[in-house]
Amino acid sequence: TATDTLGDVRGKRVLVRSDLNVPLDGTTITDDGRIRASVPTIKALADAGARVVVTAHLGRPKGAPEDRYSLAPVAARLGELLGAPVAFATDTVGESAQGVVAGLADGQVALLENVRFNAGETSKDDAERGAFADQLAALADAFVSDGFGVVHRKQASVYDVAQRLPHAMGNLVATEIDVLRRLTETPERPYVVVLGGSKVSDKLGVIDNLLGKADKLLIGGGMVFTFLKAQGHEVGKSLLEEDQIPVCLEYLKRAADTGVEIILPTDIVVADSFGDEASARVVAADAIPAESLGLDIGPESGKAFAAALADAKTVFWNGPMGVFEQAAFAEGTRAVAEALTKTGDLGGLSVVGGGDSAAAVRTLGFDEAAFGHISTGGGASLEYLEGKELPGITVLEARTDSGLEG
Ligand code: 3PG
Repeated sequence: TATDTLGDVRGKRVLVRSDLNVPLDGTTITDDGRIRASVPTIKALADAGARVVVTAHLGRPKGAPEDRYSLAPVAARLGELLGAPVAFATDTVGESAQGVVAGLADGQVALLENVRFNAGETSKDDAERGAFADQLAALADAFVSDGFGVVHRKQASVYDVAQRLPHAMGNLVATEIDVLRRLTETPERPYVVVLGGSKVSDKLGVIDNLLGKADKLLIGGGMVFTFLKAQGHEVGKSLLEEDQIPVCLEYLKRAADTGVEIILPTDIVVADSFGDEASARVVAADAIPAESLGLDIGPESGKAFAAALADAKTVFWNGPMGVFEQAAFAEGTRAVAEALTKTGDLGGLSVVGGGDSAAAVRTLGFDEAAFGHISTGGGASLEYLEGKELPGITVLEARTDSGLEG
């Protein structure tokens, strides 16, 4: 744990990078999964007597404050979950932050305002990022990296700050990496991967990598229409990435060559316009009417996907099968989630990766304990499976003289 690595943290200011990027409806948190996942590390440090300073981002503000991206609602929820008030700084490294940190007693927790309100956080310029990391580092004696969802970002609060302070990996990051390593090193077979979500272009690297590793690849969500189009079907007004059609064709061909089974839906729930539940109906995947758009995989496909998952020993799922926020388009996602809850009964491992699919299983009312692991990282878990280096992890491994003592 972080305290094992850092040594005695009592009275020390420990900066914790968490991923508290939760979906909001106005100022209401619609899924607090990432906040709950961040609590154990924060609590362990507070219990050990550290003065815990949490830093995190929300959304993608452009380096300046924007009310709708304030972490204030998150501070309140974090306090409820910790059972102790969380002091909220209205800036990240300015007067408010300095005052709040100076006012912390041993065992107390503060949250700094959205780190992305500062241009230095996401700057591509090393010096600009470094200068901001210096300011963050000045607030603390040690750093704990626990924001798994952002470890694929080379950003000041993820990467540069770790070069400036004694540091440790938090429990959440350690657990996530452990599970993902099981998927990449020696997955038990059959190894089935389910991919959904809106864009093929976000999934290219992972498909590329999985074509050599997985036994079956099930594809749904908005990205499936580019595959259907590549097979020569019309997709009406459905989401389509024209420029990716050749890539999808190549994947279909490579899958056939390498013996990886790609399973595409055979029926689709379509509607007249986005979100129009009243017009929802099921059509064959090769007969999508020109005037409608696909918003979920159909019931026959849901059954076929569940059947393909039935004997799986390892499953990775990223991306919802449809617009699960609406009941008329939620059944495909539900069918996949339901199938994954049975993998554990076979002694297999099911991993739900990604913000959206993780939110989907909770929104649809599934018991989180029924899954092997629900990752807090979308892009991060995909990049790990692609075999890419994660800057937020390599920076921790690069330096071993991490303790606070001596
Ligand atoms: C996520 O939501 O996947 C993480 O919080 C990272 O956010 P980002 O994609 O805006 O860097």
